[in-house]
Amino acid sequence: MTKTMTKTKTIRVVPTNGLLSMSLALGLALGAGAAQARDPVAGKAKAGMCATCHGPLGLSQLPNAPHLAGQPAIYLAEQLKAYRSGKRQNEVMSVMAKPLTDDEIDNLAAWYASIELSVKEK
Ligand code: HEC
Repeated sequence: MTKTMTKTKTIRVVPTNGLLSMSLALGLALGAGAAQARDPVAGKAKAGMCATCHGPLGLSQLPNAPHLAGQPAIYLAEQLKAYRSGKRQNEVMSVMAKPLTDDEIDNLAAWYASIELSVKEK
């Protein structure tokens, strides 16, 4: 399956056939994130320093950096905490995650998780 991601200002979900369940799952994940009172607006403000590599809307700007948009907040927060603790190591991300507080991590995760993706099969 080929993923096509459009770098437009508003990224819309375009579900095709089998991808409907994926967008439903994403909807559930977003719902769960919101219930945990995280602040995507504060996360967006903090994400300015991440944009060089991960893009202003979480779509990677570098060949070796992953997309963050639309990833589950729980997954993103876990990865950032793993970089911070040293459990997951990367020369860039270990440095980036080091000063982040738990709240900042949760807010960043909420922001990237709140971005809707457009995916479709070729
Ligand atoms: C200089 C470039 C750069 C900057 C700035 C940067 N990152 Fe990253 N990020 C990377 C790279 C490269 C990786 C892949 C690292 C690896 O292989 O573990 C990554 C990985 C990640 C991952 C793991 C994603 C996954 O799918 O497992 C998260 C989450 C993340 N970055 C969040 C952030 C946040 C939040 C910021 C800002 C506070 C940030 N990054 C700033 C380059 C960057």
